Amino acid sequence: MRDPFGREITYLRVSVTDRCDLRCVYCMAEEMTFLPKAELLTLEELERVSAAFIRLGVRKIRLTGGEPLVRRDVMRLVRGLGARIGHGLDELTVTTNGSQLTRFAGDLAAAGVRRINVSLDTLDPAKFTAITRWGRIEKTLDGIFAAKAAGLAIKINAVALKGVNEDELDRMVAWCGEHGFDLCLIETMPMGDIDGDRTDQYLPLSIVRARLAKSWTLTETDYATGGPARYVNVGETGQRIGFITPMTHNFCESCNRVRLTCTGTMYMCLGQDDAADLRTPLRASGDDAALEAAILEAIERKPKGHDFVIDRRRNRPAVARHMSLTGG
Ligand code: 5AD
Ligand code: SF4
Repeated sequence: MRDPFGREITYLRVSVTDRCDLRCVYCMAEEMTFLPKAELLTLEELERVSAAFIRLGVRKIRLTGGEPLVRRDVMRLVRGLGARIGHGLDELTVTTNGSQLTRFAGDLAAAGVRRINVSLDTLDPAKFTAITRWGRIEKTLDGIFAAKAAGLAIKINAVALKGVNEDELDRMVAWCGEHGFDLCLIETMPMGDIDGDRTDQYLPLSIVRARLAKSWTLTETDYATGGPARYVNVGETGQRIGFITPMTHNFCESCNRVRLTCTGTMYMCLGQDDAADLRTPLRASGDDAALEAAILEAIERKPKGHDFVIDRRRNRPAVARHMSLTGG
């Protein structure tokens, strides 16, 4: 699949649920209205749509949410997709908040998952509870170490938050180095209503990187995982730090991905509203010709890029939907 700007689309992110057991302040409002269960695609339908994407050239799939591991029986989907690794699919990965990993790490590894991303913005228990509104850090840390014990490679995702975790990032680099995890820092993106003022939280990673360079020997690498992160090696730890900079540096020219939500809506860009309904063609017939045609038609509409801006006068999100609908 090639879009009108010549980009090859080989990566599908599947949000299996918009629900989550946490309420991170930059992601959700405290009172969230989630999609009614009747709107959801079944796990079999999600696998059928994923299989159509694989036939059309997708080689990497990431399961996201919300929190993907809170969807009931999600391991059925993981096993179904895992069985396709080596048959069109190169890699199956998961982005999780870690809260369910003590239960599922072994099953993920057995299904063929080799790497996971775990969201963790702080190592401080009180701050963790403040950021997630009601989470307990022990649960996430136990999950992370269960995943490590199961042999999964781990990347920690941390959203850089001004005045919240900015003083802790050195410690997180050291902690990740100690345990053999990569660390990926993310700029907060203006998506969805979140109660508070997002411009208060925004911290440009250019500043973070300059600060980290005072404590660590950072060298540029061309290492890439097929995502927008730019990586540096940390001389002292031998691990990497990735920087995802949707605000300060636009990486859209190398975008290789599209997104599928749990209702069968395909988003061609995280930062744009245009979407394609795949549920109707999926349910219209048991043969996938109409579904594949709808996917290809949507690829033709993939926009050139996002245009997130931090607007300090009007505290309005760039897109109204929450990150938890399309899974980052
Ligand atoms: N901006 C940036 N990152 C976000 N995430 C959730 N909401 C936002 C936002 N508004 C992060 C989560 C997780 C990843 C999937 O996206 O912390 O690590
Ligand atoms: Fe849940 Fe992830 Fe959103 Fe936090 S960022 S509320 S863990 S979906």
